[in-house]
Amino acid sequence: MRPGKFITLEGVDGAGKSTHLDYIAGKIRSRGVELVVTREPGGTPLGEKLRALLLNDSMQPDTELMLMYAARAEHVAALIKPALARGAWVLSDRFADASYAYQCGGRGIDAGRLQALEDWTLAGFKPDLTLLFDVSAELAEARRAPARTADRFEQEQTAFFARVREAYLKRAQAEPGRIHVIDASHSIESIRVELDRILERL
Ligand code: TYD
Repeated sequence: MRPGKFITLEGVDGAGKSTHLDYIAGKIRSRGVELVVTREPGGTPLGEKLRALLLNDSMQPDTELMLMYAARAEHVAALIKPALARGAWVLSDRFADASYAYQCGGRGIDAGRLQALEDWTLAGFKPDLTLLFDVSAELAEARRAPARTADRFEQEQTAFFARVREAYLKRAQAEPGRIHVIDASHSIESIRVELDRILERL
């Protein structure tokens, strides 16, 4: 048991994860615990440079997967584990489940390759709780802000996001104790009620 708790938020682009992040952060901070809010890819100075490459530069799927894991290795060692060790809680906007969903589900990379990177860089390290904001690929697409310039992932077609969603749900089925699926087609208010209940337990 580590002193702090590690919570991750997941979902296809447009599921509404960012809308709920501030609410969750506020809830945790209201209990007087130190909370570190971070994101992937990114979270460290090097990780943020890798993020800029990942979101903007075209590259092979394997390159993409390995850069995600390079950023993650840095993030876990330099930021997440030290924070948890001093008793802080960590809330990350995406983590390793996103690689499974996007690089394996979306891009079609064999899950065995991802597993090798996961064993190497994470060695069994996992979030205490993962909140998966689940919506159909069509609803997610309708919700994605049209005014914003789409990054390399957001430019993908509906079929890509449908595969990403399926992979997320498969992962949630495999780890029901850690991954909590939230029906993100519901209203913000009713999702908050559900979040209150889950966070209260934790
Ligand atoms: P996202 O977290 O949605 O940020 P924003 O809301 O600013 O767009 O964007 C990160 C993108 O990176 C998202 O499209 C999913 C992708 N991604 C992967 O493909 N694999 C990963 O392992 C991670 C962490 C993210």
